[in-house]
Amino acid sequence: MFVTFEGCEGVGKSTQLAMLKEYLKNSGQEAVYLREPGSTEISEKIRGIILDPANTDMTAETEALLYAAARAQLVRQVIRPALDAGKTVICDRYIDSSVAYQGYARGLGEDFVKKINSYAMENAMPDVTIFIDLRPSASFRSVSRNDRLEREALSFHDKVYEGFVAQTATSNGRIVSIKPEKEKIFTHNKIIAALREKGAIR
Ligand code: TYD
Repeated sequence: MFVTFEGCEGVGKSTQLAMLKEYLKNSGQEAVYLREPGSTEISEKIRGIILDPANTDMTAETEALLYAAARAQLVRQVIRPALDAGKTVICDRYIDSSVAYQGYARGLGEDFVKKINSYAMENAMPDVTIFIDLRPSASFRSVSRNDRLEREALSFHDKVYEGFVAQTATSNGRIVSIKPEKEKIFTHNKIIAALREKGAIR
């Protein structure tokens, strides 16, 4: 199974991924853990270009194509072979981030982003996606502002959020919206329950 995690900046996605990893390890379940953009040598180099705050001149189209390029490498080098070998793959961000950030927030549109990503991904669509559903206004102040995307205004991140919500509605159940709880262990429990129900984990 191919599982992805999505959400706005600072919503606790990394913490939840770490908790999931720990849970799976403790229950003897193996998985391949990845992050996007990145997780191959070439994709990490592309990530460096995308997130470099010095690249203020980067056009939206260039940005979208670079995310797709990093993905094309990761799919062929790691994701496809792992899925073919029957492994569980868990990826921090994937196609839905491209649609939300480049399609909605940058204004390139869902169609363009999906089109370039159909080349990048071939058929490697996630089976289940956990969307940590928290408005950026609720988490924005805790975000670092280190990289180029984090430096965008709150209005940009609001559009990202709308992009995730819209995709959840049309995903035919693939994207599961998880509203974070005050206690992160409760959020973790909700994620475990959702992934079990989908048959992605035991
Ligand atoms: P990262 O530091 O991994 O962010 P986070 O910890 O919030 O996941 O940086 C990834 C950034 O790239 C993040 O701002 C989201 C953005 N992004 C896109 O704009 N499009 C994409 O397709 C992907 C995968 C990420």
